Amino acid sequence: MFNRDFVWGVATSSYQIEGEAMRFGAGKNVWDAFSHAGGGVYNNQTGDIACNHYNLYQRDIDIMKELGIKHYRFSTNWARILPGGFGRVNEEGLAFYDRLIDALLRAGIEPWLTVFHWELPLELYYRGGFANPDIVEWFGDYAALLSDRFSDRVKHFFTINEPQCFIGLGYVRGEHAPGAKRGTKETMLMGHNALKAHGRAVQRLREKARQPLLIGVAPTGSVPYPVSDSPADIEAAKKAYFAPAEENDWAWSVAWWSDPMILGKYPEDALKKYEPFLPEISDADLKLINQPLDFYGQNIYNGYAVKMGENGESEAVKRYDGFPSTGLGWPVTPEALYWGPKFLYERYRLPFYITENGVAVNDVISLDGKVHDPQRIDFTERYLRALEKAQKDGVDVRGYFHWSILDNFEWASGYSSSSRFGLVYVDYRTQERVIKDSGYWYSRLIRGDMPL
Ligand code: FCB
Repeated sequence: MFNRDFVWGVATSSYQIEGEAMRFGAGKNVWDAFSHAGGGVYNNQTGDIACNHYNLYQRDIDIMKELGIKHYRFSTNWARILPGGFGRVNEEGLAFYDRLIDALLRAGIEPWLTVFHWELPLELYYRGGFANPDIVEWFGDYAALLSDRFSDRVKHFFTINEPQCFIGLGYVRGEHAPGAKRGTKETMLMGHNALKAHGRAVQRLREKARQPLLIGVAPTGSVPYPVSDSPADIEAAKKAYFAPAEENDWAWSVAWWSDPMILGKYPEDALKKYEPFLPEISDADLKLINQPLDFYGQNIYNGYAVKMGENGESEAVKRYDGFPSTGLGWPVTPEALYWGPKFLYERYRLPFYITENGVAVNDVISLDGKVHDPQRIDFTERYLRALEKAQKDGVDVRGYFHWSILDNFEWASGYSSSSRFGLVYVDYRTQERVIKDSGYWYSRLIRGDMPL
């Protein structure tokens, strides 16, 4: 059983829910530009309105309160606060987050602030974005501003969300904003700068802190899990988890990002593999990247079975026909929430949080006016049982944030009906919210009314 001070939360990000994009003094970010350019997002949808959370935040907080949710992970939109990425501050943007944080605290909900959940100001992209080494100080200054303004009330911060995605999907594959596919050499440089920016942000958050802060990070990755309990298969899965990805999709890696942040060095096997593409990596860079962190967060949605092959190498096991999958086609693999935390904790030894986990379901409002989503309840229960087992087996699991409280703008999948991730249904025509069965289920669970 998770103990009484286990952190039960929900998560969102700014672009996916806020709406009022580019309004009230906000500058454009790369997602504004990418979605408006057309072609990159399902049905050319945009985050212009999204869940209109910018105006309806109080209603959304009331729902969280009603459900007994005590922890909320959200992000701030960099360009809403610094329209050009640096320099001139948009006071209206800061004031919005003031209102949000104050309302959360009034409702007894602890804010967990993510500094960067992919909302790169467009102006910075025009200046080279992550390929420009100045990003380190731009990001540091932005983090300092957030800390200066909010850390009297916000104690928990995440620096970056999923570098695997904003570098990998953004620039290696070019499927996410800004949709600019680049060569390996350039994307590796961007990745290195992003890690330095993370380190600088940790420093600047602490420098401006108005109370002792707890700072972490929220990367991701698909989790290889052993197909059996044999030590050889377990070894094979662990090896695969931390191994470098193929060069043409290199960002899809765990150790490449987390090792330098937590262990102070890039993994040797990856350095060898990517040799021709590496940026310059100095000792000073590694020192900057390797800032002390208070906790380790990981976003985990799925994994794949692995066995030890005849040749001593890890081998992926083919899924059987009809393998369970979600609305977005992601496999349903609760094992990921056991083995992921276990492998990560063994390697990084920091207090551990699941900072995102959830499932896309093709939810509808039924004739009775309710949203029945047994698949989401079943998914979450299976995954949480696995997480609980990891805790029993020694992983210092401190919390779990469900993605998401609301259905929202699911990046390249937009508002497609098969990409609803919320515990609360959103009717995008009317902005009506309907708490799904899973929302009530989560509420009973976190209140301790119901064992897993
Ligand atoms: C993660 C993202 C989050 C959301 C979920 C479904 O990769 O961090 O914003 O889109 O996937």
